Amino acid sequence: MTAPTLQNDIFLRALMRQPVPYTPLWLMRQAGRYLAEYNATRARAGSFMGLAQNPDFACEVTLQPLERFELDAAILFSDILTVPHAMGLGLDFLAGEGPRFAHPVRTQADVDRLQVPPMERLQYVFDAVSVIRKALNGRVPLIGFAGSPWTIGCYMVEGQGSSDYRLIKTMLYSRPDLLHRILAINAQATAQYLNAQIEAGAQAVMIFDSWGGVLADGLFQQFSLAYTQQVLNALKREHNGVRIPVIVFTKGGGQWVEQIAATGCDAVGLDWTASLGSVRKRVNDTVALQGNLDPMVLFGTEQAIRTEARRVIDDFGPVGAGGHVFNLGHGINRFTPPEAVGILVDEVHSYSRRHH
Ligand code: CP3
Repeated sequence: MTAPTLQNDIFLRALMRQPVPYTPLWLMRQAGRYLAEYNATRARAGSFMGLAQNPDFACEVTLQPLERFELDAAILFSDILTVPHAMGLGLDFLAGEGPRFAHPVRTQADVDRLQVPPMERLQYVFDAVSVIRKALNGRVPLIGFAGSPWTIGCYMVEGQGSSDYRLIKTMLYSRPDLLHRILAINAQATAQYLNAQIEAGAQAVMIFDSWGGVLADGLFQQFSLAYTQQVLNALKREHNGVRIPVIVFTKGGGQWVEQIAATGCDAVGLDWTASLGSVRKRVNDTVALQGNLDPMVLFGTEQAIRTEARRVIDDFGPVGAGGHVFNLGHGINRFTPPEAVGILVDEVHSYSRRHH
């Protein structure tokens, strides 16, 4: 069966730095707890994993933000921690506490046991991709995603979120050999995982290096970027003759953009501490840029939302030539008023159309 032609490919065109009529946007974590309908579906599913592991539920929540807002891309509903879960670490999302692993990876014996999981264990994700592509019916492109080897490694060693990364940094500074083995396995698993999402129908993929920015300069390159590079080297960049753009997002990675761009990705995601205009000069338009509104702007007044959205668009520069995908600088906060998202979408589309 051939896929229906895309009705809106502005997002893909911007990623490939082709001319666009307006600045496309989507939001990290656009499907999530700030939407009442998400909470209702999650309650029916019983748990976060119940939601993520059922392709019909995953499809339902993927489409929810698109029903409310004119977003230019859909993102697969899943999580970056499905990969370590498939490795047997026992993922659980405790109410109000975030993710937790029953079997974190901390000792040499833990590392010796670690393996690239058989991709069949992640079949529910690939099934979700196919079900969502079908339901989208060409409306907007579907983004697949994974965590970076370093970022999933943080959760695997810490066993949960962390504010100081003490356990993984203890390993880094005392047994770097163990950490390198974990990261090499993660890189292989992540490449296979993303390639299977591409085979199932993901039209762009994004690597979330959410915690790359906690590393010192020099160590970021060795423990995060080198493994993201391994993933990129193993990725399928085309499917059925169509280019699959890759976005690499390193939170706190603004000072390393030249090196991130040099991995061969198509686009670099940036948080709000970077200036899109100055980053663009530094990478000399060799990659597209995605970002980078402070998600907390959505708690401000309507005027503030409109002003800050324009600031991001103006900072990037003239719209028509492409190369900018508007997004938040990190995931949308769960307490965000949905009306604020409506204002943001309106401003990005209408302002960028006028400044075409
Ligand atoms: O963007 C989307 O709409 C797609 C879905 C998506 C989720 N997680 C769903 C989710 C994506 C792309 C992610 C990525 C993810 N997950 C990252 C990288 C991006 C980032 O935010 O830095 C990370 C670090 C995770 C790990 C993770 N998953 C954490 C720390 C949590 C708890 C978060 C919290 O705010 O409490 C999750 C759970 C999670 N993943 C939720 C959603 C919608 C909320 C959980 C719930 O419904 O109970």
